[in-house]
Amino acid sequence: MPGLLLGDALPNFEAETTIGTIKFHDFLGTSWGILFSHPRDFTPVCTTELARAARLCGEFEKRGVKMIALSIDSVEDHKAWSKDVMAYSGEPDRPLPYPIIADNKRELSVQLGMLDPDEKDQQGMPLTARCVFVIGPDKKLKLSILYPATTGRNFDELLRVIDSLQLTAQKQVATPVDWKCGDKVMVVPSVSEAKAVELFSNGVTTKEVPSGKTYLRFTQV
Ligand code: BEZ
Repeated sequence: MPGLLLGDALPNFEAETTIGTIKFHDFLGTSWGILFSHPRDFTPVCTTELARAARLCGEFEKRGVKMIALSIDSVEDHKAWSKDVMAYSGEPDRPLPYPIIADNKRELSVQLGMLDPDEKDQQGMPLTARCVFVIGPDKKLKLSILYPATTGRNFDELLRVIDSLQLTAQKQVATPVDWKCGDKVMVVPSVSEAKAVELFSNGVTTKEVPSGKTYLRFTQV
């Protein structure tokens, strides 16, 4: 089965995009990356999503994350549709602030496991699902999500998970349910109590539970 699992390295594919031909690893450089596919240009939900992504591009930039979109449409369609996206976004005179890959032959979508077999074009060919890959500076897959065409994504949630991924890449912590930047985090189970005291100068609070086990350890970083 083609597709990517967490920890897999993204291939250094060559692709036609709205900014010309790219080699993916060169495009990413040493940055984090987010590659997000959509089913089709000139469709309603996709327009709202890419407009939201455009409005949030400063937030992705702040986090050092390079953005790139993908669908099975052509570069010409991407360029024409980008104007609609930016008009919808309320910035008709600004270019779309990130490139879009034109995967007309679906080679990349097949390789990366992005196709939705239930969503087809007029020729009966599958469209790309709403797939998101967050890629670390080591070019490895840190997070993936896959939504069907009928459910638009939440790009604020993508920023939230990037905050979590970047924090947990540096510190031996994990982020609990509904965590937001600045909230308390949890010490990962592999850290001993002695090591936790050493690592977390703000202190560690352990929540007592009926089992008597001490795994619910919170700290502020
Ligand atoms: C949309 O973006 O609205 C859409 C695209 C393909 C199928 C369903 C919805």
